[in-house]
Amino acid sequence: MKPLIIFYSFEGNTKLIAEKISQTIGAEVLELKPKKEIKTKGFMKYFWGGKQVLTKVKPELLPFDVNFDDYDFLFIGTPVWAGSYAPALNSFFADHKFSNKKIALFCCHGGGKGKVFDKMKTVLEGNEIISEIDFHDPKKKNTEAQLQKAEDWAKEMNDYQKSLL
Ligand SMILES: Cc1cc2nc3c(=O)[nH]c(=O)nc-3n(C[C@H](O)[C@H](O)[C@H](O)COP(=O)(O)O)c2cc1C
Repeated sequence: MKPLIIFYSFEGNTKLIAEKISQTIGAEVLELKPKKEIKTKGFMKYFWGGKQVLTKVKPELLPFDVNFDDYDFLFIGTPVWAGSYAPALNSFFADHKFSNKKIALFCCHGGGKGKVFDKMKTVLEGNEIISEIDFHDPKKKNTEAQLQKAEDWAKEMNDYQKSLL
């Protein structure tokens, strides 16, 4: 059973965690990138990004070449935007319907994960959600401790995955 880490990151927090998981278990990574990214990293990002979530925008993603049939175990990661997953994930979920995969969810947030996991579970119905974990701005806050938490979780997921073989 081969794992794949799929994630989007606007400011690097989710990417930091995705890379830690990848290093820990040696999994391949797919970073989702919108063709047109939100321009501002200042306060207006909350306005533009929040609006995209609320209006359920599906930004066009840069192309990638992945055969998802090769992977049975997916890690899916997102920053929390307006209490939900980021619009890049919205595009991804619309274009890629999975079933019968084992999936571990992770997110990064600025203080509250909101309903992000509930919303991901709804859109991923038909799969088995194994675990979920959240991180609070790991680039800025308690970086070492949060990276350790990511490593421990990745090992736990890896052990679980091996136990299925
Ligand atoms: C458009 C936008 C909306 C956000 N909404 C939330 C939110 O609802 N709750 C929260 O705790 N953090 C929110 N944040 C903060 C991010 O989730 C947090 O900083 C996260 O660590 C960023 O991950 P990234 O660096 O991978 O993009 C928001 C950030 C942006 C840009």
